Amino acid sequence: MSVTITLNRNASIKVEGDITLVGDDGQPIPLTPGKAIFLCRCGDSRKRPFCDGTHKSNGYCSTVEASA
Ligand code: FES
Repeated sequence: MSVTITLNRNASIKVEGDITLVGDDGQPIPLTPGKAIFLCRCGDSRKRPFCDGTHKSNGYCSTVEASA
């Protein structure tokens, strides 16, 4: 199964597919198989590495568009 990574406008990074997420201690972070995860990229989530929705209230802005 392939992995799809989506940079959500002004929000999190959505990761779908057969993935393993490893913490900075080298240990895998338990995930629900087959369920997408949303990683925080604003830096303010209280549930890092996961998004908790804080980006909606902290003014986080980031857009990423493909270039040729
Ligand atoms: S991107 Fe959602 S809380 Fe940081």
